[in-house]
Amino acid sequence: MEKGKLSSYLSTTLGELALGKKHAARVSRGKVRDMVDLGDRLIITVTDRLSAFDRVLTTIPCKGQVLNELSLFWFEATRSIVPNHIEETLSPRSVIARKCDVLPVEVIVRAYLTGSAWRDYRQGKAIAGIVLPPDMRYNQKFESPVITPSTKAERGAHDEPISTGDVVRRDLVSEPLWRRVEECALALFKAGSEHAARNGLILVDTKYEFGTREGKLVLVDEVHTPDSSRFWHADTYDELYARGEAQRELDKEYLRRWLIERGYMGDGEAPPIPDDIRLETGLRYVTAYERVTGRTFMPGDVDARREAEIVEKAIARLA
Ligand SMILES: Nc1ncnc2c1ncn2[C@@H]1O[C@H](COP(=O)(O)OP(=O)(O)OP(=O)(O)O)[C@@H](O)[C@H]1O
Ligand SMILES: [Mg+2]
Repeated sequence: MEKGKLSSYLSTTLGELALGKKHAARVSRGKVRDMVDLGDRLIITVTDRLSAFDRVLTTIPCKGQVLNELSLFWFEATRSIVPNHIEETLSPRSVIARKCDVLPVEVIVRAYLTGSAWRDYRQGKAIAGIVLPPDMRYNQKFESPVITPSTKAERGAHDEPISTGDVVRRDLVSEPLWRRVEECALALFKAGSEHAARNGLILVDTKYEFGTREGKLVLVDEVHTPDSSRFWHADTYDELYARGEAQRELDKEYLRRWLIERGYMGDGEAPPIPDDIRLETGLRYVTAYERVTGRTFMPGDVDARREAEIVEKAIARLA
């Protein structure tokens, strides 16, 4: 999508799902998603909010739609590996999902030594209980992908890394279920990596959330989006790796780096984010969608009022 076209969406981003008085109290908000609990189901609206360092900082044009449609793409592509929570699509950014008991661990899969794992490794720490060889390099590929779970912290707190052994020892997930989680996570990651490779991308690492429903494991939340995953351009990996330089990323590192350059890393007041940075970030999300799916992104013209109407109608139908 052209920059000019995307800029026309700067002023109409969806900051939150604003339902009318009758339903307003039913909405609960995560950092990015707004949800309406219908008992057995959830209506999930992916807003345009962007969070970095666990803080919501701004909105990004078309981000909600990109994330929602990218997840739908992957849910569909991976349904033979594990069933997912999607029941129905309501709008470009709202879906009806089956409500699940979400496991209290985020399942992170990593194929490369980078990000927080690299920072921990450099300080001599184990990575979620995994002791790595002493001579690994920045952005080196693991022999095979590793799972580094993290506890799902209460609101406001940061997630905490945990070893796969402790997930079971602390009784967060039963052993047979955890074995199935690991098996599914690795299979999902393999499918994601192979697909990314066909499009000239490397799926570097990602986070999955699973839930259970009637005893069955279900994939929930989002899959292989720029918010939950890190992608690199494959064609420049070797060269940059050999030089020990940062990889070219296809994700929200762009805005994170902009913030870090201005001294912001989550504490204190964030600098105001100018429109050209919001726009550039939006372009990256759209590009990620197009590169990963091979489809052209079609922005939906659904405004905040209309979105609320669509959700209210679904509530009336299902509640
Ligand atoms: N099918 C589902 N059933 C129950 N909960 C779900 C389902 N899908 C997603 N969720 C939960 O909904 C929330 C999604 O909201 P969002 O991604 O904005 O939150 P977050 O900021 O990542 O996390 P949190 O809400 O934990 O702070 C997550 O807590 C996720 O675990
Ligand atoms: Mg989330």
